[in-house]
Amino acid sequence: PASARSAAQGDVTVAGVSLAEAADRFGTPLYVLDEGEFRDRCRTYRAAFPEADVIYAAKAFLCRALLHWVEEEGLGLDVCSAGELELAVTTGFPPERIVLHGNAKSPKDLSAAVRLGVARIVVDSASEINHLAVLVPRGTRQQVMVRVVPDVSAGGHAAVRTGTDGQKFGLSITDGSAEEAVARILGRPELELVGLHCHIGSQIAEVEPYITALRRLIGLLARIRDDHGVVLPQLDLGGGHAVAYRPGEDVLDVAALAARVRTELADGCARAGLPVPRLTIEPGRAIAGPAGVALYRVLSVKDTGGQRFVAVDGGMSDNPRPALYGVRYAPRLIGRGSTAPVRPVTVVGRHCEAGDVLAAGAALPDDVRPGDLLAVPVAGAYHLSMASGYNLVGRPPVVAVHEGTARLLVRRETLLDMSVRDIGL
Ligand code: LLP
Repeated sequence: PASARSAAQGDVTVAGVSLAEAADRFGTPLYVLDEGEFRDRCRTYRAAFPEADVIYAAKAFLCRALLHWVEEEGLGLDVCSAGELELAVTTGFPPERIVLHGNAKSPKDLSAAVRLGVARIVVDSASEINHLAVLVPRGTRQQVMVRVVPDVSAGGHAAVRTGTDGQKFGLSITDGSAEEAVARILGRPELELVGLHCHIGSQIAEVEPYITALRRLIGLLARIRDDHGVVLPQLDLGGGHAVAYRPGEDVLDVAALAARVRTELADGCARAGLPVPRLTIEPGRAIAGPAGVALYRVLSVKDTGGQRFVAVDGGMSDNPRPALYGVRYAPRLIGRGSTAPVRPVTVVGRHCEAGDVLAAGAALPDDVRPGDLLAVPVAGAYHLSMASGYNLVGRPPVVAVHEGTARLLVRRETLLDMSVRDIGL
């Protein structure tokens, strides 16, 4: 995080809290969230897009305290399950600022959304339109958007490219299925179609794919007006903004994106004779990712087969991203200084498979030894939200640091937590 700084002895503080002290106090593995950094990132988005609704994508990471930060910073929330939705609403998050997403929403997801009164439901298939319409109480209308596929290829890995035809999300503009869904919704009095949505992928560092998608969405807005006589008042451009996991990696320039989107929206709508719709954007990773750091204790160091393996007390159960997407992280030694020369090592986890590699080719001092602490920056998004119970290791705790104090937000998962559902004999 930007707020991290090194002290002479190799200690690192975040928001005035020593990471080594936090590791001693709360144990490892440990996830530390810099509340100020998280809030600053919310504010950066609000400042860049003052005319838009900015909604935080809860799938990146969610817990009760974070919901308060998001709410206080004036953002809305993107949820994709009844679970995320109910955690938010029971924590006091205003439902009228929540949007429900998902390619396959269950009856439970849809009925929770209608019952709790979310702002919008982004529909993803014709069958969902029918399922939703019958859940809407008589005399009321549910606002919906259609998730469309603008056929734009962008994103950090095939698994997170969602803007092209031929993947499971959304309805294609090209083959007409998006417009068919529009017609179907317009024929259901229980549903109020308020706009179009797209989310073209994740970990996207360039502005251009968003602009191409925006043009295609404006084109579809114009066709909907021509074919159905309806002018839709909203557009949602999704999230997907890249962060740098290692120094020097490309990030999405949020201010540049905002400026280009504003111009393109004004020009494109003027050309098409459309009013400028209200915009929504949905960043997740770019808000939570850089606000988090993961701390691990080194358990063993061994040289074998021509490589040095540094094994830590966490791994793919708290961070499956290297195994899933081949992502590379840049761990660093913290808690003590070292003048030893730096060499490439393979930082691995403790789980029972060879693919449990947290950082291949990591640069660490030659004298790293068991008991040392390693910090993995940019750990706030899609680590713990994708964590698993693999090997019954237990999910790590989450601690917020702010103005010199550390506060436990989520405690460590115990064997009791993990076994309580196991009721067979
Ligand atoms: N909106 C929708 C509809 C989404 O599906 C997503 C993410 C977002 C917004 C937020 O995208 P972000 O700004 O966080 O990139 N597990 C993967 C990322 C999956 C993204 C899923 N959808 C990873 O760890 O890279």
